[in-house]
Amino acid sequence: MIELKGVTKIYGGKVKALDDVSLSVDDGCIYGFLGPNGAGKTTTIKLMTGIIKPDSGSVLVNGLPAMSIESKKNIGFVPDDPNVFLRLKGVEYLSFMADMYEVRSAEREERIRELGARFEMSSALGDKIQSYSHGMRQKIVIMGALMHRPRVWILDEPMTGLDPKSSFELKKMMREHAELGNTVFFSTHVLEVAEKLCDKLAVISEGRILYAGDMADLKRKADTSLEKMFLEMTEHA
Ligand SMILES: Nc1ncnc2c1ncn2[C@@H]1O[C@H](COP(=O)(O)OP(=O)(O)O)[C@@H](O)[C@H]1O
Ligand SMILES: [Mg+2]
Repeated sequence: MIELKGVTKIYGGKVKALDDVSLSVDDGCIYGFLGPNGAGKTTTIKLMTGIIKPDSGSVLVNGLPAMSIESKKNIGFVPDDPNVFLRLKGVEYLSFMADMYEVRSAEREERIRELGARFEMSSALGDKIQSYSHGMRQKIVIMGALMHRPRVWILDEPMTGLDPKSSFELKKMMREHAELGNTVFFSTHVLEVAEKLCDKLAVISEGRILYAGDMADLKRKADTSLEKMFLEMTEHA
């Protein structure tokens, strides 16, 4: 469960990226966060993961302040840019993440095998990340984020650059994780991705939440198409 209450974020004293945002992300469902470029999705995610502080308002993850180490331990975070630690080999990066999140060595080997197989990355783990394609970098970052079996998944535009097989596999994993009663929150600027994948959805534009609720309700309300409704919503913001 992630809860934002009255959150405002202003960059450099001028750019109001978020304006009085309140949002409740329930467990047990896939929660999508949809909005055009520059809407404030990444800023919201950085607040949820405790990377940045709000100027006002509160951010709680399972009741813990997002800035606390205890909260961060519960989170698996996939950032929007997968260009991390390029000089490390894939397996070194995964071990590093396992160290950071205090995963025991027997468990980490099993986890590396399991994730390597699911993402078809086993044979690439001995190579340096700088030799990876964008999609492979995306995959290694996702694997790293899941090493410690976090309850809360927060993914910033996770499908970008993934091939169909990996994208399918990730969506399946998100579904399984949500069905176990966990938190799965992801952002996207692609309507089709949101429409297909999420049970609940929040729409953000220019730092304000325009809609938050069930995907099914939104579909019912859209008298024409979801795309037209989304365009109108974000235009009038
Ligand atoms: N570090 C930063 N410094 C100044 N402005 C920023 C910074 N990060 C984001 N912004 C601005 O805040 C707004 C929201 O950005 P962001 O949260 O990245 O949107 P999204 O992820 O939805 O594309 C944009 O206007 C963006 O230019
Ligand atoms: Mg973003």
